[in-house]
Amino acid sequence: MLVRCYRGKLSVWAALCVLVLCWFYIFPVYRLPRDKEIVEEVLRQGEDWQRNQTGIDLYRFLLTDCCDPQRMFAVTKENSPMGKVLWYDGEFYHSHTVNNETYSLFVQVGSHIIICSNNLKGKPTAIRILSSSFRCNLPPLSKEYVDDVGTRTHLVTANPSIIEKRFQNLLWSRKEFVDSMKVYGSSYIYMPAFSMKPGTDPSLRAYYALADSSSNLTMLFANPEFLRTVGKFWKARGVHAKRLSTGLFLVSLALGLCEEVTAYGFWPFSVGLDEQPISHHYYDNILPYKWFHAMPEEFVQLWHLHKSGTLRMKVGSCPPQEGKS
Ligand SMILES: *[C@@H]1O[C@H](CO)[C@@H](O)[C@H](O)[C@H]1NC(C)=O
Ligand SMILES: *[C@@H]1O[C@H](CO)[C@@H](O)[C@H](O)[C@H]1NC(C)=O
Ligand SMILES: *[C@@H]1O[C@H](CO)[C@@H](O)[C@H](O)[C@H]1NC(C)=O
Repeated sequence: MLVRCYRGKLSVWAALCVLVLCWFYIFPVYRLPRDKEIVEEVLRQGEDWQRNQTGIDLYRFLLTDCCDPQRMFAVTKENSPMGKVLWYDGEFYHSHTVNNETYSLFVQVGSHIIICSNNLKGKPTAIRILSSSFRCNLPPLSKEYVDDVGTRTHLVTANPSIIEKRFQNLLWSRKEFVDSMKVYGSSYIYMPAFSMKPGTDPSLRAYYALADSSSNLTMLFANPEFLRTVGKFWKARGVHAKRLSTGLFLVSLALGLCEEVTAYGFWPFSVGLDEQPISHHYYDNILPYKWFHAMPEEFVQLWHLHKSGTLRMKVGSCPPQEGKS
């Protein structure tokens, strides 16, 4: 009886300790600047920007060293052969073992070359990105937006949750999905199929829906190992989120592969530079789950990179016919 009591107390203490540790993890001791301070600083900096080759080379080196984006950013037949265990990066202890069925969906390196417009010389054994426009989460490119966001797309990301919410998980008609994908032309669709267990089936269904309709799009599945290492890279630099935003994954990819990176639309604040309220995305105002992403922290990191000339952030209004790269 006594022992049981003692154990009960111990576990209360253990639980308290864990709570305190979680608290420090979620609310680190250093203070993030307030939105208003950030806006003021961005205004002070203005359009000033000077390219810094040392910074560009440094970040390419760091990201190649930690995460090898050239080889690892997508699941390929080369980095994920039959029998390979893919550990879900967004789940605690779940994995998918590559089998006949999934292996046949992976791209073959060499057959796919994607590259930045001002690309590096890619190794022949790697997926290269021949791309100047990355977009996040299947954004609409309809008439009312194109003046601001252009239409050129080479890679667009799609979260499985969008398949679920917008296209009824593709369990019924697939026509709406296939039709709505046409605006992305012949770009790559980048889906984190192996990040969360419930996301795998919708992602595979999206693959088949496109394949069956002889779509010009190419599906790339995000490699969970890449997402995990990139997450660690930014965590070590002070981004304390359950998960990085898709935008930061893409910026990391671009920093690792491209000579010049410009980020558009990365502005997670509720007021613009003119202090007028603005929506979260250019097409809607749906905020991310509060504890899921740490958008202001991410912005501060990107802003440091902007100030050091490593990448360029466009935070005011956009000139037409440009995209993310
Ligand atoms: C250029 O980048 C390097 C590496 O990030 C940094 O140490 C240096 O201060 C930067 N130079 C300028 C002028 O910001
Ligand atoms: C994969 O498919 C091949 C031929 O289609 C078959 O010979 C092999 O046994 C299959 N392997 C597994 C693990 O199912
Ligand atoms: C794929 O591209 C070709 C050539 O650009 C075009 O004719 C065809 O309609 C496209 N297919 C689909 C499904 O969009």
